[in-house]
Amino acid sequence: MATLKLQSLRKQFAPNVVPVKDISLTVEDGEFLTLLGPSGCGKSTLLRLIAGLEQPTAGQIVVGENNLTHAPPGDRNMAMVFQSYALYPHMTVAENIAASLKIRKTPKPEIQQRVSTVAETLGLSHLLDRKPGQLSGGQRQRVALARALVRNPEVFLLDEPLSNLDALLREQVREELKQLFETQNKPVVYVTHDQTEAMTLSSKVAVLLDGLVQQLDPPSRIYTHPANKFVAGFVGSPQMNLLSLKCQGYRAILGEFSLPLPSLSSQPEAIDIGIRPEDLSLATEDDEITVRGDVFLVENFGRELLASMKINGSNDVLRILIEPDRQWEKEGLKLAINPHRIHWFDAKTGDRLN
Ligand SMILES: Nc1ncnc2c1ncn2[C@@H]1O[C@H](COP(=O)(O)OP(=O)(O)OP(=O)(O)O)[C@@H](O)[C@H]1O
Ligand SMILES: [Mg+2]
Repeated sequence: MATLKLQSLRKQFAPNVVPVKDISLTVEDGEFLTLLGPSGCGKSTLLRLIAGLEQPTAGQIVVGENNLTHAPPGDRNMAMVFQSYALYPHMTVAENIAASLKIRKTPKPEIQQRVSTVAETLGLSHLLDRKPGQLSGGQRQRVALARALVRNPEVFLLDEPLSNLDALLREQVREELKQLFETQNKPVVYVTHDQTEAMTLSSKVAVLLDGLVQQLDPPSRIYTHPANKFVAGFVGSPQMNLLSLKCQGYRAILGEFSLPLPSLSSQPEAIDIGIRPEDLSLATEDDEITVRGDVFLVENFGRELLASMKINGSNDVLRILIEPDRQWEKEGLKLAINPHRIHWFDAKTGDRLN
């Protein structure tokens, strides 16, 4: 049993290159933490710090009772899976999987037994004699995973392990990964910029930007209560509609309507709101809050249409999901907004207000 703890971790490469500024978080046994964020936000750097491949400028890395902040990578019982797989091209699959055990001078019969168990788990048994060059991308990916699993490490670290796979295979391996790690009961830290992976795999997601954690929560909470405008816009596909509204008194002006503001200490001049496309609907007579506009773009996703509507009298656009068999008009379309699903953000700081 081992909990991974990061305490005020910082990594500065140069005076103005600080991809990890001040990050503290805990990953318990059996927890699957995903580091999610745009390219360059410091995800890989944070993972490499945990693995010991980079030295932190400040802060601590603790596993269980052991402070590993300055331990060399070989002394940390962690297994890392890289995006590039990093397999040895001249070795067979079996030799690749066994390599780390060999270095640790594990007895031969035990190596054979562990390799064959892991190969079985990952459906690699029939490929053990092949070289990496004779495998498909998905198979190579599984060998990289097998190499991590066979070591029976205290902590798993994975850096975008699925990003080299095509969409279908990624979905399949993602499901396999989920089942696999559910049985491991170890802390897992998983890096991705793919929000579908973050949402489906994780027990917790840390959304990163500018070297800081923007939000650390279970994926469902991140989706329903994004902590700020960045998280709101980054998580969710199609993206959340984000609008800047003028305020009059304690109401925000949206088209012909005004919306009551969430409770605030002072009256703002402007406020930002977010509405997910699925929280808009084609209006009926009974709907209280409606917006009108003209649709200028329709994208067909098969299961639903994504329509982009310019709001009358403004340049703002709302995107809405519509079932393909519904009857509706592109011009003068009237949308209803579910008032309980509006996300309110401070216009200056971007922080969530409700
Ligand atoms: N060894 C290094 N020396 C200097 N700067 C570095 C070094 N490694 C990373 N950086 C910088 O730190 C920042 C964060 O890089 P990092 O690789 O952690 O991003 P990332 O979130 O993993 O991005 P991606 O999604 O593209 O993989 C980048 O601006 C990068 O150029
Ligand atoms: Mg990276």
